[in-house]
Amino acid sequence: MNIKSLGTRFFSERSFPLSLKIMIFVFSCITYLVLLWSYQTRFISQDEGRLILYFFYVLIFCTTFFSGFAPGIVFALLSSIYAVNILMPGALSLDNFTVTDLEIFPFIAVYFLIAITVDWFRENIEALRKKLVENEELHAHTRRMEKLALAGEIAAGITHEIRNPLTVIQGYVQLLEQNCESSEQDVYQLVLDEIKRTNQIISDFLRFSRPDTPKKSLVQLNDVIDSAVSLVYGEAVRKNIEIYFYPAHGLPQLCLDRDQFIQVFLNLFTNALQAMPNGGTLSVSAIWKEKRKTAVVRVNDSGQGISPEALGKVFTPFFTTKDAGTGLGLSISQNIILAHHGIIEVESIVGQGTQFTICIPVDDTCQVAGQIC
Ligand SMILES: Nc1ncnc2c1ncn2[C@@H]1O[C@H](COP(=O)(O)OP(=O)(O)O)[C@@H](O)[C@H]1O
Ligand SMILES: [Mg+2]
Repeated sequence: MNIKSLGTRFFSERSFPLSLKIMIFVFSCITYLVLLWSYQTRFISQDEGRLILYFFYVLIFCTTFFSGFAPGIVFALLSSIYAVNILMPGALSLDNFTVTDLEIFPFIAVYFLIAITVDWFRENIEALRKKLVENEELHAHTRRMEKLALAGEIAAGITHEIRNPLTVIQGYVQLLEQNCESSEQDVYQLVLDEIKRTNQIISDFLRFSRPDTPKKSLVQLNDVIDSAVSLVYGEAVRKNIEIYFYPAHGLPQLCLDRDQFIQVFLNLFTNALQAMPNGGTLSVSAIWKEKRKTAVVRVNDSGQGISPEALGKVFTPFFTTKDAGTGLGLSISQNIILAHHGIIEVESIVGQGTQFTICIPVDDTCQVAGQIC
């Protein structure tokens, strides 16, 4: 509730149509102007003027309810001036002051009280309305997720079944490759590469739709990152990408699923390498925040970056900007991190690069339980 916001709030508040607000505002202004003029010219009697004072209750109520606190308080102020003039003719000169003039104070108090109370109600109604809208959105989201989960279950079943014949095909192609002429070897290799890629998509999809419960144990996060770095090191050299890893100092062992976190860092590093087709720098730094008992890992690349429109969607399942992408890497990573009560965030500038930040808090139960949690 701030007088300074007069005007700004009146027009920016979206709960009521602008036309209605303007109508009330104009109507109130005209009423006040007419009344003030009538007082000056005395074309209404003092008794009629008194009746009008009650009419102001409605006006202040409407103004505050539809337009907010500031316009309401302005009208309460104008009403008070009018009230003073009606109830204390010859106003502001205290010589004429009588005991009956004291009735001015309840009027003024009620005017301001109406403005304040109505604004308070209005804000509560507004908060309630927002909650209802949020609840509705949440329900819609839950319904969507239920449908997606069902579709995912069906697809996961089918995908699982595809894997068996695919393994058989892979075995036969490998056999054929071993016995083929050297001129045909390229073709077989191409088929095997495609089978490998299909297998990868199936694995990603199954991991997404049927996530494993984390098998946590106390591990050194620095070692996990180091292992993931070595897995992409060869690829980085081939692509003329320099990798820097700055391990965290004083980092205790954390309670997490080592394999799942290797998967997380692999996903992030692979994305980073894919974003730097002409070489660049991938830097990974880990920090231990003693006070917050949290490990923070930043993965920076100097790649093409992510457009502002895409930035909000990168963790959405199946969102990809790549021809051969599945759009599952980041959503799987996010699920793993959430299962460890952590968070993952992304910042990016197109043409300059991208930074992913992961925060992993210490899991106390694990520390108490000992080696395996
Ligand atoms: N380091 C990065 N640089 C630029 N874009 C990225 C980066 N990481 C993720 N993205 C964007 O996020 C999308 C989703 O990534 P991901 O879930 O791993 O799926 P995929 O790699 O299969 O496309 C990518 O298609 C890409 O547009
Ligand atoms: Mg990816």
